[in-house]
Amino acid sequence: MIETKFKFTLELEEELFTAAELALKNSYSPYSKKKVAAAILCKSGKIYYGCNIENASYGATNCAERTALFKAVSEGERNFSAILILTQSREPWPPCGICRQVLLEFFDLQSPVILATTQGKRKKTTLKKLCPDSFSKKNL
Ligand code: THU
Repeated sequence: MIETKFKFTLELEEELFTAAELALKNSYSPYSKKKVAAAILCKSGKIYYGCNIENASYGATNCAERTALFKAVSEGERNFSAILILTQSREPWPPCGICRQVLLEFFDLQSPVILATTQGKRKKTTLKKLCPDSFSKKNL
């Protein structure tokens, strides 16, 4: 966890990138050999980061986005400003369906979702674009 006092700016996007780079080193991905990391900016100003954690059963694998988010939620965070997802792939990876649903629980639809590669590609999107017609607590 990193403490920061900035509002969401390009500078802060770089802080998320740096945090994700740290997390990428810890990726436990012996099966897919695909390292993934995520860094999340909380409205409190803190940044949490995490990596994918694979499992021999495959199905018990935890994606980087959920690792980062669960770390933050478990520390009492509930409100989030942005997430950056980092991969070593040629093109940036969007979050999987399970992660989209989990992000929807805590992020505003307009929140920036930054998809980045270690080779310097970046794509900026929002949860709203990634999750059209989504189901969330607003439906209950
Ligand atoms: N993965 C993530 O960490 N996040 C995603 O949203 C997509 C997939 C991980 C899971 C697995 O360890 C590897 O990438 C290949 O699917």
